[in-house]
Amino acid sequence: MADTIRILVTLAEHADPRLVEQALDGDSSLEVLGYADYFDDWREFLEQPADVVIVACSAGDDSATQMVDRAVKHRPDRPVVVMTEASPNGFLRQVFEAGADDVITLPQPPGEVAFTIQKVIARRKGLMMPGKATAPLIAILGPKGGTGKTLVATNLAVALAQRDANVVLVDLDLQFGDIGLALGLSPERTMYDLMKAGPPFDHEKIDRHLIRHSSGVKVLIAPTRPDQASAISIDYLRDVYAALRTMCDAVIVDTPPGFTPEVIATIDVSGEICMVGMLDSLSLKNTKLGIETLDLMGYDNDSVALVLNRADSRVGITPDDVSTIVGRSPDVFIPSDREIPRSINEGTPIVASRPSSGAAKAFRSLADRYAKMPVSQPAPRQASSSGVRSLIGRRR
Ligand SMILES: Nc1ncnc2c1ncn2[C@@H]1O[C@H](COP(=O)(O)OP(=O)(O)OP(=O)(O)O)[C@@H](O)[C@H]1O
Ligand SMILES: [Mg+2]
Repeated sequence: MADTIRILVTLAEHADPRLVEQALDGDSSLEVLGYADYFDDWREFLEQPADVVIVACSAGDDSATQMVDRAVKHRPDRPVVVMTEASPNGFLRQVFEAGADDVITLPQPPGEVAFTIQKVIARRKGLMMPGKATAPLIAILGPKGGTGKTLVATNLAVALAQRDANVVLVDLDLQFGDIGLALGLSPERTMYDLMKAGPPFDHEKIDRHLIRHSSGVKVLIAPTRPDQASAISIDYLRDVYAALRTMCDAVIVDTPPGFTPEVIATIDVSGEICMVGMLDSLSLKNTKLGIETLDLMGYDNDSVALVLNRADSRVGITPDDVSTIVGRSPDVFIPSDREIPRSINEGTPIVASRPSSGAAKAFRSLADRYAKMPVSQPAPRQASSSGVRSLIGRRR
């Protein structure tokens, strides 16, 4: 990185230029090449050889989203940072979806602004991506309880982390979340604490609320009490997802049984679904219903992985029967294994504790599916149903 960071500042319709000047002035590591406002000729302005574009705006200024979008499209390889006085619900999601790399809320203590901008640039250089990408969000669903969603979510996360992917696992089972238990993590900070910390949910704040597992997977733990669960709003979830997708290689969301409002909101912004069923007729009936519901929500078969758990159980239903009942063949078969409950008790998923087991192999083949997919663009599922970032061979 050059010693001085060259900055272009674009002012949204209602931005206060004095606040931005104050934030950038007096720091010798930052050099502002120029200011442009909403009505200026942007094409020429954005041609300048700057390292970063700052979009300054007032709280919830709609023109900011357009300006981020234009700056990203003009030079997709150059980072864009939003500077704002406050960020009402939904605003962060909009600017992240438009392609912003980070959001700085003013005022900030001296040095903080430069530090955030340096980090954004370093992160971009580290990624070496030809354009901006957002991480895939993989929702693990199972319309019936106890089918193995948490088992799949934890093992998939660790299998991807074993390939050096930077993975965030979100426990959306708001009432009875047990990811913390399954990974042996204590709930020192949870998604409730993050929500109480209040917006903006920027990278720094979110990162402080993620708990690290020894595999490298970072976990956003579910609230610890049911009354806290009811405080988690859909808007909050969308904001947090949007930010998470700009700060890691894959977001995996473990869900409660059924299509609760928060699960539907997750499906809505997700690009990839992993449906977990078991070899019993009730589970299979619900799996079929679930896949039909996803079809109605615009998901084609390519974006829905069907995982059959306890696939070797002798219960009078064969994998062929499954295809007939559900209407498609499973993509991955996970055998029953006595080591699985043991691995959960130890807090180390079987993909790490017994890597040569049949179950571990099945989880690695599920991870292959996500690791081999192409780069995605910063848009929700509607615009990019199957694109996800290539994880193979990546280094953090
Ligand atoms: N293939 C398997 N072999 C052995 N035990 C298994 C297997 N799959 C799941 N289990 C056991 O079944 C239990 C339920 O699994 P899990 O918690 O992953 O299900 P879930 O779908 O997340 O449940 P819930 O709907 O309650 O969240 C776990 O205790 C796990 O040990
Ligand atoms: Mg579960």
